[in-house]
Amino acid sequence: MKKIVANFKMNATVEETKRYFINFLAKVDSAKAELTFCLPYTSLATGNYFLKGTGIKLGAQNLADEDEGKCTGEISGRMLVDAGAEAVIIGHSERRAKFKESNKTINKKIKVALKNRLDIILCVGESLTEKNTLKTLETLKAQIEEGLKGLYENELENITIAYEPIWAIGNGKNATVKEIEYAVKAIRKVLTDDFSEKAGKETKVLYGGSVNIKNIQSILKAKGIDGVLIGGACLDANGFVNLINLA
Ligand code: 13P
Repeated sequence: MKKIVANFKMNATVEETKRYFINFLAKVDSAKAELTFCLPYTSLATGNYFLKGTGIKLGAQNLADEDEGKCTGEISGRMLVDAGAEAVIIGHSERRAKFKESNKTINKKIKVALKNRLDIILCVGESLTEKNTLKTLETLKAQIEEGLKGLYENELENITIAYEPIWAIGNGKNATVKEIEYAVKAIRKVLTDDFSEKAGKETKVLYGGSVNIKNIQSILKAKGIDGVLIGGACLDANGFVNLINLA
């Protein structure tokens, strides 16, 4: 079964989240794919209320790199679990860019998430400049090696890698199947070289970046791809149900 992760980003109030799930759950066939909703912090309790017992996972989009204490404005892994989250996105390119998250910080966040038994969706991906200067592989290697530094092989079972080329996010210009396969092969090679053959083969790898109803089927057929991470196309409940039906 393919994995589909919905990233709401900074969208939906509590009331909008409520309306979304009433509509979505009435229409979705949740057996079509393994589903996770990564919601804004303020919508987690509502998400938990609606998703509990449905087999659909609840996730957040970030967490602090420490577990508690002097960290004004941050949310810890423990708090996420307490709010019902089972998963968390770490290292999204929007956080890397806007909040200057380094691979080192991302590594710390991954360790905190593992300690709290959260499933991790680690985002990696190159910028347009890196793509144009043929630095895609170098970027992916650094993001994975530094992000996963110090982890034990068995901990990879809780980690999904999402390949999200920055140039393909939110603009309708999705990567081609060939570009996706090229990156996924490289990601799996780094995992094989740094951990094991098993890690390279069995770690789940998703693609994200302008996935929509028109391209999802061909993207899901890309070699080595286990699913998709979706931004814009998950925000309309009816549209998202239609997209899931194509998985
Ligand atoms: P879009 O699907 O809107 O391109 O966003 C992708 C993304 O960043 C998901 O995390």
